[in-house]
Amino acid sequence: MANLIIRNLQGVQIPVNGEGKAALRLIGEAGIDWMHSCGGKGRCTTCKMRVLAGAENISARSAAELKYFAAGRLRKDERLACQCRVTGEVTVEVPPDTQLPHLKYSH
Ligand code: FES
Repeated sequence: MANLIIRNLQGVQIPVNGEGKAALRLIGEAGIDWMHSCGGKGRCTTCKMRVLAGAENISARSAAELKYFAAGRLRKDERLACQCRVTGEVTVEVPPDTQLPHLKYSH
């Protein structure tokens, strides 16, 4: 089974069931806290994640992602967890500037 792997959260593996759910939803359903200041509406970029592997298993950039990418607020390897749908194995990490203070991140 494919997983969404969060490398710097101790490599936690979240099963991807093939329904193409948003990464933020998969993370939330797994009970993992993840910053999402605008509530998943594509308006803040605090839910961004850095994609380390499996970019081909993520949906194309949404209009919101394209806007922030053009404005320089998303790096080439960053995606908004609330906007992108995961369909297969993907490895990500939480960028330093959106890490939550109460969680312990690994390297
Ligand atoms: S939660 Fe605000 S852009 Fe994703």
